Amino acid sequence: MLRSRIIGTGAYAPSKVLTNFDLEKLVDTSDEWIMERTGIRERRIAAEDEATSDLSIKAANNAIKMAGIKPEDIDLIIVGTVTPDMFFPSTASIVQGKIGAKNAVAFDISAACSGFIYAMSIADQFIRNGTYKTALVIGAEVLSKIIDWSDRNTCVIFGDGAGAVILRGDNGKSGILSTHLHTDGSMWDLLYIPGGGSRYPVSHQMIDDKLIYMKMKGNETFKVAVKSLEAVILEAIEHNKMKPSDVNWIIPHQANLRIIQAVVKRLDIPIERVVLNIERYGNTSAASVPMALDEAVRDGRVKKDDVIIFEAFGAGLTWASALIRW
Ligand code: UT7
Repeated sequence: MLRSRIIGTGAYAPSKVLTNFDLEKLVDTSDEWIMERTGIRERRIAAEDEATSDLSIKAANNAIKMAGIKPEDIDLIIVGTVTPDMFFPSTASIVQGKIGAKNAVAFDISAACSGFIYAMSIADQFIRNGTYKTALVIGAEVLSKIIDWSDRNTCVIFGDGAGAVILRGDNGKSGILSTHLHTDGSMWDLLYIPGGGSRYPVSHQMIDDKLIYMKMKGNETFKVAVKSLEAVILEAIEHNKMKPSDVNWIIPHQANLRIIQAVVKRLDIPIERVVLNIERYGNTSAASVPMALDEAVRDGRVKKDDVIIFEAFGAGLTWASALIRW
């Protein structure tokens, strides 16, 4: 059966580290509160001249190298991001031009923290129906530039980074076995940026009113996230006629350690089978799943034939999972 197999992974995080102690100087918070409530110790922050495409290109080049392909071999590039370089063109177009993937069609997907899994699912459809053979899928964010650094509800949890995979159509047992995407737009206002678009176009007033920054009802988002993630992981397992005990690795969106712990506890999956890097990177939205995957692939945790579940939840609201046989 034709499936999309992940033949390369890559990640990139900016070099500047912002610790919880640094945040103590910006807002009324503490290292203790942040560690206890989120599991985050530090996060990476892009340089002033570093945009989402810059991070994406570095992650993409690492994935291309691991896959052993040339940029011209890529037929499709999809970037999941809510922090594109600019409204248009797409960040994927900029990446396509700069890496020399001249044969690839390229576009972005806006599904917030679920953006990478949404993008991977779209690429998977194109590969399985035979339209394209090789796809570059990227999750990348520079959230530090859309955060209100005086809002302790948001500034302590987010960070910047990028992750990428190369998918290739292959006949065999390995690859993406299924993807599961969901949206509930009735709760869009739990997590959003009000201004800068066609609803509240840029004006001096809206900037003064801080409408250009992310707003989040964290506690309500947290509760919906736990329930939705449990359901969408089970959906992937049951769809493939498996049991939670068949899963070797969960690679979760690193939103909050307590969300991850609550979800795997409900599923009776030991935390040792979860790939975690939230302590070092915080919540990097669409980048978090491919960044954690890259780590687990490169350090040898992920082995051939392992059953892996990706999961994510974010603004939209959107949530998603994917089940992969490595
Ligand atoms: O990425 C995908 C979507 N996003 C998420 O999944 C994020 C989900 N939400 C969260 O991760 C958590 O809700 C937060 C980490 C954002 C907040 O944690 P919480 O346990 O839900 O805290 P809370 O908002 O219920 O606030 C509890 C208390 C409040 O004080 P009082 O009212 O109990 O006196 C807050 O004012 O903690 C206070 N607080 C803080 N204290 C120190 C809120 N933020 C901070 C802070 N430092 N940064």
